Amino acid sequence: MRHLIDPLDLSVVEIDRLLDLADKIAENPKDYSQVCSGKKLATLFYEPSTRTRLSFEAAMLNMGGSVLGFSSADSSSAAKGESVADTIRAVSCYADICAIRHPKEGAPLRASNYSKIPVINAGDGGHQHPTQTLTDLMTIRAKKHRLNHLTIGLCGDLKFGRTVHSLIKALSRYENIRFVLISPEELRVPDYIIDNVLKAQNIPYEEVENIEDVISQLDILYMTRVQKERFFNEEDYIRLKDSYILTTAKMKNAKPDMAVLHPLPRVNEIALEVDDDPRTAYFDQVQNGVYVRMALMMTLLEVEHA
Ligand code: CP
Repeated sequence: MRHLIDPLDLSVVEIDRLLDLADKIAENPKDYSQVCSGKKLATLFYEPSTRTRLSFEAAMLNMGGSVLGFSSADSSSAAKGESVADTIRAVSCYADICAIRHPKEGAPLRASNYSKIPVINAGDGGHQHPTQTLTDLMTIRAKKHRLNHLTIGLCGDLKFGRTVHSLIKALSRYENIRFVLISPEELRVPDYIIDNVLKAQNIPYEEVENIEDVISQLDILYMTRVQKERFFNEEDYIRLKDSYILTTAKMKNAKPDMAVLHPLPRVNEIALEVDDDPRTAYFDQVQNGVYVRMALMMTLLEVEHA
């Protein structure tokens, strides 16, 4: 039995195979409409979500399966003090696979240690979000036709942004990748990612504060929201929340084929006027998230399909 807790739980070959399957599903979704007939997905969401929870549920329903779960800790026995370990022991009796989002870093890993069914990390605190990364990789591959030889700008809250941490880990395994890390001093990428991923593998990167200085170099610009819910101090959030706002004026200096990604939700960091720019891909990510989660659940459930 396999879990997906960290993007590195899948090898590069497995990720490429999974993205190929997601592309095939996108081409002919009806061919997969019964591949999970009789299977049940449990979504255990201790933190708010729109895209991740609903795309997991849509993915299982699209494959003929069923879904059950909760969308807040308050509506589960966590509110009575139940541990993640006991919850997953119970859920293992009801479902075939589960996706868990939790504000505590490491909670999905802990769940996997007590689970009888595959556990998928649907986001743990400011740590990792591996299924968003699969979505991002599918979108980058569709836009650029490659996952290597890319300069990727990551902009915004790089400290708490779990999608950023997972994407750096995953892309670091491809050839000739260079990162431009654009953030205020206080929201830089954590040292454990810099030391254990970038420096450990000699991946080129630079840390800058000004998006205008670097936008012309980028093949991908990955914007992120400043994560209000992770700040201890509201004053700091208010001071930093509008550090970056991508506008059409700034986009004029970008490459004609640069792709703009954002895991969403968006607050202020991309002006609405940018949505009409053909280089934007954040709503493509939302759609791709369904296909990639279908492919992931087929893979973890070992569902065969011709
Ligand atoms: N990208 C993402 O995780 O969005 P949600 O918080 O809406 O699930």
